[in-house]
Amino acid sequence: MDSRNQIISEMQKYFGDDKKRINHALKVLKYSEELLLERKGDCNVVIAAAILHDIGIHEAERKYKSNAGKYQEIEGPPIAKDILEKIESFPKEKIPEVLEIIAHHHRPGIIKTTNFQIIYDADCRVNREES
Ligand SMILES: [Fe+2]
Repeated sequence: MDSRNQIISEMQKYFGDDKKRINHALKVLKYSEELLLERKGDCNVVIAAAILHDIGIHEAERKYKSNAGKYQEIEGPPIAKDILEKIESFPKEKIPEVLEIIAHHHRPGIIKTTNFQIIYDADCRVNREES
């Protein structure tokens, strides 16, 4: 299994029966991969960040009784780090950038990289469709 499918499978395991979150992550992944065809992003970073961008949402709800972006941004990176570190085929040196994106993904333009912008745009598009 390549690292993309391993990250998907870890995300599904983590979210369990929360189909809504799983589908949201998979849709953000799909749009991010479309944007990767048009823009020069790093596939490993963008794919991992897309799949894991909201991974902190359950912890945020449990600890703060809120799914507000600021709590997800605190809770998400350590969970994503655990997941990515155990996937042997994922390049370890790219983990910090993925965590940075997850920690800031609700704040437009705060990180000025193509990788960040792809996640931000894909997430906004999915959120618009879902609302
Ligand atoms: Fe999202």
